[in-house]
Amino acid sequence: MARHLITSAIPYINGIKHLGNLVGSQLPADLFARYQRARGNEVLFLCATDEHGTPAELAAAKAGQPVADYCAEMHEVQARIAEGFRLSFDHFGRSSGPRNHALTQHFAGRLAEAGYIREVSETQMFSHADGRFLPDRYIEGTCPNCGFDSARGDQCDNCTKQLDPVDLINPHSTISGATDLEMRETKHLYLRQSAMKAQLEEWIDTRDGWPVLTTSIAKKWLNDGDGLQDRGITRDLDWGIPVRKGDQDWPGMEGKVFYVWFDAPIEYIACSQEWVDAGKGADWERWWRTDKGAGDVTYTQFMGKDNVPFHTLGFPATILGSGEPWKLVDFIKSFNYLNYEGGQFSTSRGRGVFMDQALEILPADYWRWWLLSHAPESSDSEFTWENFQASVNKDLSDVLGNFVSRVTKFCRSKFGEVVPEGGSYGAPEEALIADLTNRLSAYQAQMEAVEVRKAAQELRAIWVAGNEYLQEAAPWAAFKEDPERAAAIVRFSLNLIPFYAALSSPFIPDAAEAMAGVLPDAPATWPEDVATALSAVPGGGAMVVPDNLFRKLTDEDVEDWKARYAGTRA
Ligand code: MF3
Ligand code: ZN
Repeated sequence: MARHLITSAIPYINGIKHLGNLVGSQLPADLFARYQRARGNEVLFLCATDEHGTPAELAAAKAGQPVADYCAEMHEVQARIAEGFRLSFDHFGRSSGPRNHALTQHFAGRLAEAGYIREVSETQMFSHADGRFLPDRYIEGTCPNCGFDSARGDQCDNCTKQLDPVDLINPHSTISGATDLEMRETKHLYLRQSAMKAQLEEWIDTRDGWPVLTTSIAKKWLNDGDGLQDRGITRDLDWGIPVRKGDQDWPGMEGKVFYVWFDAPIEYIACSQEWVDAGKGADWERWWRTDKGAGDVTYTQFMGKDNVPFHTLGFPATILGSGEPWKLVDFIKSFNYLNYEGGQFSTSRGRGVFMDQALEILPADYWRWWLLSHAPESSDSEFTWENFQASVNKDLSDVLGNFVSRVTKFCRSKFGEVVPEGGSYGAPEEALIADLTNRLSAYQAQMEAVEVRKAAQELRAIWVAGNEYLQEAAPWAAFKEDPERAAAIVRFSLNLIPFYAALSSPFIPDAAEAMAGVLPDAPATWPEDVATALSAVPGGGAMVVPDNLFRKLTDEDVEDWKARYAGTRA
């Protein structure tokens, strides 16, 4: 039995994510986790909310809530939606939890001892009225370039010019409105990634079979301009993990917190500790410490392409620099972007479908199937309502749903609610078994390689093959001449349903469960051998006609939804 550690990039706490975010990390990670479990392997699948940083503080302020309360509430919201999509996390953690505090401070202490941290003095805007240093986004003023009066300290939203807070005319604090701002000296910690460049490069160069998207981004950052840059890992914020060296104070760093991108990936490890704390597991170290049994773990990470630098360089620098035997990632699966109806999804303008809205209009399986079968792997891909309607109606309704409903209803009308006895399998059944044997191994190979779209294509081909068989074998015609032959065809076709249930379960878990209920006596395991699987339930076994698996999406549905999600949400 293999052991798979699987993590999805942890979504920011502020706001509900859109379908593009979902298909870029959590959903394909869930597909892979479900597949590995179905194959009988041991899986630890982790995700969490990413709760620190300026965006969390700003969103809480906008909601008029203390940031801790805001995060606690939004975590629950995201957790419920994740359940709605059937994301099968073994634990959904929180990066603001005590475990991540301790572990982040531990890593910082180890990195400091190893000489990988340097202290840098910088000048930064200090607000007397607020009694704190202001991050760039907390300062607004008039843009020196275009005259826009609400330009932020880091960028002008009107003319897009990158700015420094000192460039702004009449700068003020967005917290209090105060204008008595002054540039003051402050100290920050930098992680000396430049000193680890050779080590990181060697590690990247020796990774086998990584997606080009992953390695090309890593290489670009390693060699861009002057090469890998040192990275500031502290911020002047209230909300975050206080800067400490392990459990010691860090002189000069009082009142500062770690930068969100420093602590967020450490949450992958802390999450496994939370999983143990929650009583769901006994031992987190055998997943993470190569000196404690994690040597035989395969660790796969899932993320959007914008996250790749932090996972190929930033987090590995933290791990390697610690000098401790932590498990490093084995395979990084990254995704391009999903666009929406000829443009981008926009969180600020509410353009596109967000996870909560998606579940309000259709069950998870519809979305899971479309998103995974159109995952933006080799390039960006695009959601259009027409395409969604066509895929759902064809693949799910006409091919899979129709197969299940035709076979079970025909069986009930001619043989009753029981697997029919009599007759035997012949050449058409042998041919389908041979075909499905090849297709099953192709499907497994794509799943092992985390080729999401190709795996979906193989699965669809497996459904289509069953449909074509049924069409040609035509038990409704055979029944008139040779009821025994019709019985064999129906028995064989019925046995295809639990076979489809097992294979489809990583993609469409709810429909798979409904399909598995058709023959309650069929083994609920992965079919190791097609011939065996397709004669698993002999004549006489119980047969239950399920409700329709999928409904067809009408033109009116699609028109309505298209108008509804064009971009209005505040
Ligand atoms: N919150 C980030 C995002 O949504 C991802 C963080 S992934 C981790 O883009 F590595 F930091 F965990
Ligand atoms: Zn401007």
